[in-house]
Amino acid sequence: MTNTSSTKKKENASSDWDWLVQEDRIHRTVYTDDNIFVREMDNVFAGTWVYLLHESQIAQPNDYRLAWIGTREVIVSRNEDGEIQVFSNRCTHRGATVCRERRGNAQSFTCPYHGWRFDNQGKLFGIPGKNAYGPAFKSRDMNLARPAQVASYKGFIFATLNPDAPSLLAHLGNVARYMDEWIEHQGGEDNIVISGGQRYHLDCNWKLVYDNAGDGYHVPFSHQSLLVMTNERYGGGDMTYFADADRSNMHAYGLENGHSIIDQRPDMFANSAWNQQRPQPGRESYVEHVLNTAGSENAQAVLESTVGAGMNLNIFPNLLLIGNQVQVIQPLKVDSVNVYFNATRRRDADVEMNTMRLRTQEDFPIVGEMDDAANFEECQRGLTFSPENEWVDMSRHYETGKDVKGDDVVTGPVTSDLHQRNYYAKWKSLMKANPSLKMRKERLK
Ligand code: FES
Ligand SMILES: [Fe+2]
Repeated sequence: MTNTSSTKKKENASSDWDWLVQEDRIHRTVYTDDNIFVREMDNVFAGTWVYLLHESQIAQPNDYRLAWIGTREVIVSRNEDGEIQVFSNRCTHRGATVCRERRGNAQSFTCPYHGWRFDNQGKLFGIPGKNAYGPAFKSRDMNLARPAQVASYKGFIFATLNPDAPSLLAHLGNVARYMDEWIEHQGGEDNIVISGGQRYHLDCNWKLVYDNAGDGYHVPFSHQSLLVMTNERYGGGDMTYFADADRSNMHAYGLENGHSIIDQRPDMFANSAWNQQRPQPGRESYVEHVLNTAGSENAQAVLESTVGAGMNLNIFPNLLLIGNQVQVIQPLKVDSVNVYFNATRRRDADVEMNTMRLRTQEDFPIVGEMDDAANFEECQRGLTFSPENEWVDMSRHYETGKDVKGDDVVTGPVTSDLHQRNYYAKWKSLMKANPSLKMRKERLK
């Protein structure tokens, strides 16, 4: 017998947001449908604030770097006076990309196709054979286009194409106070330097990466080999407290506007986070160095400040502050994504501390991230090859009453699917909206 109401739903599937995104389950097409991906690039990535890069990545006058508002490529450039500008990497002539290098230092950009030249504020100043163009052309604004809004929060640069989007501060909402705590762990905003990174290309939908960033449930299973090895060789240590996570002191917090945090600090720093680290090259000589430079009474505090921040801080839709790393999600296609793992160093630290910070930051992406990446790609395969199995479950702790609503934060067990339910509510409201997206032509002041 045909279930007519279900058939009807399926006919309208790609736009029936309440059916596709239910409170405790998500339809598979949200991860596999090209049309949904295209709408996400407008409504989610261009329609709200997305993270571009950190100011330390373009530290010197005339430094620039490519960044992405979803699939829209922009150049983020610091001009001679130190002002940061963001403009589209789409030539106003025939549409070629103007800049073909990922980063560099330049006062101007010359489009390789017909040689049009733009300064590093996006202004067109050179057209070969200019006399062949008439008054109609001259009345058009041919400068490189700019996102409707650009703003920075303590060195983190964001942009949106939506002129009606609320301010960046309003968008961040209460995640800002957790960002402040993360920044504090790095010694303050002026201390943070992005020092390099790894780029992972994964054959999966970008949301499989974002789902996992707040998933405290998978750890003992996905990373079993790492935790067993750590336990057997070293008798416990970093992250082994996830083995019985619901009984741990850690919590998940659902924040405003789709942001969230998995807070590992109560267990990670309960005694000593430094002592819980897995073995790292140079660890013993670093302890000796800290004792010599900081003195025995301050040494432990310095060691504790060297390890990761103990937070998985998820800033919807594309910024993850995990440990001491700044991770960025760059969607490419419905089933294709780049993830950047950017290491940080502290400007105020000596080379020994920054080296040890780097050893800590290498630990997880290198030893653990492969487990996650394999699962993301296998989720994509399963969701694609089995359309008859329609639903992705997000109901963990949905019915146990353990997600507790406070004034502006929902607190849940660390294995709750609270993170996913929380961001999907925001995702759905954005997907239902009809933002008018704009690229501006005038200069930013
Ligand atoms: S497309 Fe850029 S100069 Fe022609
Ligand atoms: Fe993981």
